[in-house]
Amino acid sequence: MNRVYIKTYGCQMNERDSEAVAAMLRVRGYSIVESEAEADVVLLNTCSVRDQAEQKALGKAGRLLKDRGRGSRMQVLGVMGCMAQNRGRALIDSLPDLDLVVGTQKFHQVPDHLDNLMATLRGLGPRPASIVDIDAEAGSQNAIRGHAATRQVSAFVSIMQGCDMRCAYCIVPKTRGPERARPMDEIVEEVRRLADNGTREITLLGQIVNHYGKREFPVLGGKSPFVQLLEKVHAVDGIERIRFTSPHPVGFREDLVACYRELPKLCEYIHFPMQSGSDRVLRAMRRPYTRARFLRTVEALRRANPGMYFSTDVIVGFPGETDEDFAETVTLFDTVKFDMAFIFKYSVRSGTEAEALGDTVPREVKEARNQVLLERLEALSVARNCLLVGTVQEVLVEGPARKGDGVYMGRNRGNRKILFPGSAQLAGEFVPVRIVRATATVLYGEIVDAAG
Ligand code: 5AD
Ligand code: SF4
Repeated sequence: MNRVYIKTYGCQMNERDSEAVAAMLRVRGYSIVESEAEADVVLLNTCSVRDQAEQKALGKAGRLLKDRGRGSRMQVLGVMGCMAQNRGRALIDSLPDLDLVVGTQKFHQVPDHLDNLMATLRGLGPRPASIVDIDAEAGSQNAIRGHAATRQVSAFVSIMQGCDMRCAYCIVPKTRGPERARPMDEIVEEVRRLADNGTREITLLGQIVNHYGKREFPVLGGKSPFVQLLEKVHAVDGIERIRFTSPHPVGFREDLVACYRELPKLCEYIHFPMQSGSDRVLRAMRRPYTRARFLRTVEALRRANPGMYFSTDVIVGFPGETDEDFAETVTLFDTVKFDMAFIFKYSVRSGTEAEALGDTVPREVKEARNQVLLERLEALSVARNCLLVGTVQEVLVEGPARKGDGVYMGRNRGNRKILFPGSAQLAGEFVPVRIVRATATVLYGEIVDAAG
């Protein structure tokens, strides 16, 4: 009884947390399996950022428990992460057969809790009582450090937890707690170990990465702790590409912009959450910048590197958003020419400041605005990708593409997905690929041989 399946909902932080929990469980002798059907233990690592994400995980948990009642293999079901933190014991009220609820500061306790649950189940007594572990814990950000045992060409490294901003719509400060940074040296050491194991690309992760260490470390020579960290990671041999996600526009100062001129390994791709293009809505959202300031930072970044790629997050239908406000979002979206974007329909989250504003924009209006931006995005990304047809891109090969047939997948520095005919020994290598065809989301190409 030691096969665990972890299903992850939500963002890259959650993916990273799941990976770290999997590493902890492996050390304890559990094996990690790829499907719930083979698993004795199922852990759902959940997201609370929109109601839909919570409903999805709740539905899944309900179905898994029902299947257990009908004799499925699964013995233990746990819910971890943001929804566990957000709902806590109330989860047990709605799903009384749930075994385990583990909050965002308690991931490192999962192995102990599973050991205990398993031991009780092996004794032939009654089912063990549900465990709810959702307290805050000092230093918990340092627990997210273990990685897969096999080589990861591209790896994520969690540098901090939590968020001190108070965006009116956002539940993250509640689910993830205040900003807590990991020590710089530990992060660099983790990156070094990954590089020794063959990792070539690192993505630094945090709710607001550019606020990294603001409280813990001093500014040195005009450089923020985050910029100091970038420089240290840059110095690690074997790491050839560095990315990070997500920054807040407000913390994007000149020292960070300058990194795009001075640190060649830093890829010219930035996820730059805009949320809205209307100053009025930005103010209501408590996003402390204007569209003019957002645009100025984008321009400064393009001056630092003219090839810069941008992606973003936008929320449509924030309470009170008018047609005029939305039109401002569309014009800013078009002016920046985003290459990638996640468009979200506003979802009321309980406990947030915006909850009191209600949900005033009708569903059909949100849907229509969502559609408008998706169409703009499609046009912008096709246009940008078409410019790449005929060029040779440096591609870091990640592995076989999902569709197989000798097709391999990698990314250029701009994080564009590129498919090409290749072979297994290319995984982890940088290859020159000539782009022959483009869609909004994928580029197709051929490796340029040494003579060509
Ligand atoms: N409704 C819709 N989208 C939201 N986001 C955060 N909170 C909400 C909400 N209540 C979006 C923001 C954020 C992304 C991760 O999720 O755009 O950048
Ligand atoms: Fe949420 Fe705003 Fe913090 Fe991002 S910066 S996690 S949107 S509160």
